[in-house]
This record gives sequence, structure tokens and C-alpha cells, in this order.
Amino acid sequence: MIPLIEKYRVSKFEDIKDQDEAIREVREFFDNFPKKKALILNGSVGTGKTSMAVALAKENGLELFELNASDLRNKSSLDEVLRPAIGQSSLFSKGKLILMDEADGITGSDRGGVVELIRLIDESSFPIVITANDIWGKKFSGLRKKCNIVNLKELDELAVKRILMGVLFKEKKEVKMDVLDHIVKHARGDVRAGLNDLQSVFDVGEEDFLSEISREKSESVFNVLKRVFQGPLDDRVVRAFDRTDVNLDEVLLWIEENIPLEYQGDALVRAYELLSKADLFKGRIYRQQYWRFLVYQSFFLSAGVSSASKNKNDKFVSYKRPSRILKIWLANQRNFKMKGVVEKYASLCHLSKKKANKDKWLLPFILEGVDERTKRRLDLDEKEEEYLKEKRVDMVVSGGLNRFGG
Ligand SMILES: Nc1ncnc2c1ncn2[C@@H]1O[C@H](COP(=O)(O)OP(=O)(O)O)[C@@H](O)[C@H]1O
Ligand SMILES: [Mg+2]
Repeated sequence: MIPLIEKYRVSKFEDIKDQDEAIREVREFFDNFPKKKALILNGSVGTGKTSMAVALAKENGLELFELNASDLRNKSSLDEVLRPAIGQSSLFSKGKLILMDEADGITGSDRGGVVELIRLIDESSFPIVITANDIWGKKFSGLRKKCNIVNLKELDELAVKRILMGVLFKEKKEVKMDVLDHIVKHARGDVRAGLNDLQSVFDVGEEDFLSEISREKSESVFNVLKRVFQGPLDDRVVRAFDRTDVNLDEVLLWIEENIPLEYQGDALVRAYELLSKADLFKGRIYRQQYWRFLVYQSFFLSAGVSSASKNKNDKFVSYKRPSRILKIWLANQRNFKMKGVVEKYASLCHLSKKKANKDKWLLPFILEGVDERTKRRLDLDEKEEEYLKEKRVDMVVSGGLNRFGG
């Protein structure tokens, strides 16, 4: 199944909502090319930056030529990739548009990448579009001078709502108004987040979606984030996670998601670097089961991320919920159902759980084949039965592969 954000990805200017000003400026850049050879589309996630680059290429019959940060890191690969693209303008009738998507990925430790990008702009005979969440960091100052900068705004609530309703209409689906409003509020101008939440509603149903959202106890998460981002760097920050019931892995996701709402420029880069240190320890903890490292993970997440910026403020920031949290919860929920089924099957047939687990892919067939009495003795509840039916094909494929080697 294609996720909604891909299925309904827009690729024409007329479908990009609530960005009229930016669209006008993008067209103007192209009309005046090569007065400025490159354009920066600057704006937060899910506001339509990539879509706009695609639309520009499409509207002008240009071939889109995509580069990434690692192409820049490698000089010879850049040359290889670009020589043909830069030179041969007349070889093919179709012109090219070079896209460097998500330039934030050119990290602080690789200033060389920015230098290469500037060289590319100087040498290219094709227009270049660069997208970024935040182009105002020091490392980009040289780059900014070479480019027109177009800012994309976060979409207002009505626009997000209209986009989501358009998708609902095409999908021939309905959701309750308060669920939709909830999604729209939560998206905060990020269409991607809105579409992903709508996807979750399709996947789990409205009821589970709402109950999961309230489970987050966003109040307490809110306080933790506020302490880390805005509090003075003292021992209360170090202990920031002690009293929350959100586990450390979830905290990591929350912090990752919200760093860009709190930090800009160099502080943003520093914060991500500290976050990646926390992530490193997380990896070691899981791989080596070395729980002592939890202290370090927690330290980099709290005091580390806090230290990324010295200018503390107490502005109100409405933090965003990371969409992955809902996905993780969903996966756990599924495992949970499966575990229940396997346990019941094990106890009915006097098998070890391990053996029963190996046979679980057969369960849908067993269920179809047995009489009502045995079925009752298996004592599955409705949800479990439904789940088995629904998962029938997946289970056969994965179970069969495990068993017979694939
Ligand atoms: N302004 C907009 N109007 C309509 N759809 C949008 C808009 N901005 C984003 N989307 C949709 O949201 C998803 C992500 O858009 P994308 O262009 O990748 O955002 P960005 O590159 O800014 O993160 C896509 O499915 C896209 O169709
Ligand atoms: Mg993008």
C-alpha cells in the first residue's frame, strides 16, 4: 500500500496550496535566470519545498537531476555526476534542473561540501534549486550570497484542513470532525505530518488514534522538553527525565523532532551532534545489553542538548509529536495481539511457547479447519480472530520463508 504522502504528492504549482507568494518568486527566479543561477527554498518540513522544485521542472519541461549531500562530499563523484549535466546543454533538447534537496544534511564537519556546492553554482549552465529547513546558519553565509532565497511559510490550519479533506474525498473515506481538527492542530502547518496522521487513523481507526494521542500525556512531555530546551543548565536538567513516564527512547524522538523549533543556525547543528551522541549510546546499549550506558544516553539528551544554546528564553513553543511514536506503538500493538494468540494455542496443544511461535503462520488455517467446539476452546476474542484473518497472507509468506529458507 502506498503511503498517503506519496500517493497524493503534488507536482504542479496549481496543487501547491497556500504558497502563492513563494510560487510567484520561484517563477520570477526562473524567468530571470541566469541573473542568479541558484535558488534556495527555505522552510520547515512539509511545506512543499521538494514539491515546488518538481513543479518548476515540470512546468518548464526540464529534466530533474537530483544530488545529495554525499555527492558533494566526494569530489570525484561530483565531477563524474556533474560534468555531463553541466556541459551538454545543447546535446538534448530538454534542459535540466539540478536539485540539491535538504542541504541541511551538509554537516558542520564538512564545510568542503558547501564550497563544492558554490563551485557547482559557478560552473553550471543549468539552474539549481537547493532546499533547506534553515539556511541562516554561519556555514551557509557564502552560499546565500550566490542564491535567491524564497521562504515557504507554514500552512495555515484552514489550508491543511482543505488538503486533508481533498484526500478523504478521493479515498472515499470519512473521519469525525473532531479527529480531523485534532490532526490539523497537531500538524502545525506541516502537510506531511497531517497526511501521516491521517494515515494512522486509516490504519488503527479513530478510537485508537485518539486514545493513543491522549496516552502521550503531552503535558509531562511538554515540561520535560521545556526544561531541556529553555531551562538553565543545572542539575535539574540532568535529572529532567527521572520523573516522566515516557521512556528514554521516546524522549529521544521527541527531542529530535523539536530541536528545529527551538534552535537555529549553529545551535541547531550542535544540538543534532549531541543528539547523535545520545543515539550512539543507545545503539551500544541495545547491541551489547550494556545498561550502564543509559546514564550517558540520558546525559547527552538532557544536559548535552541543553548546552547547544546559551541564549535561553521562555517563549511558548508548542512542541510537535513525532510521527514515528505512533508507528512504534502500532507495531507493539500488533505484536501484543499475536502474542496472545500464540499463548492460547500453546496452552491448548500443550506446546512450549517457542514451538507454538514457530507454527504461528499455520494458525489462520488451523482456525479455518477446526470445528466450532475446538475454536471455542482456543478462546480467541473477536479482535484476535479478525487479526489472524487479516494477517493470513503476510504470515504465510514470512512463516514459509523462515521455515523453508528463502
Ligand atoms: N503547500 C502544499 N500544498 C499541498 N500539498 C503539500 C503542500 N506542501 C506539502 N504538501 C504535501 O506534503 C507532502 C510533503 O511535501 P514536500 O514537498 O516533500 O515537503 P518538504 O519538501 O517541504 O518537506 C507531499 O505529499 C506533498 O504533496
Ligand atoms: Mg523535501
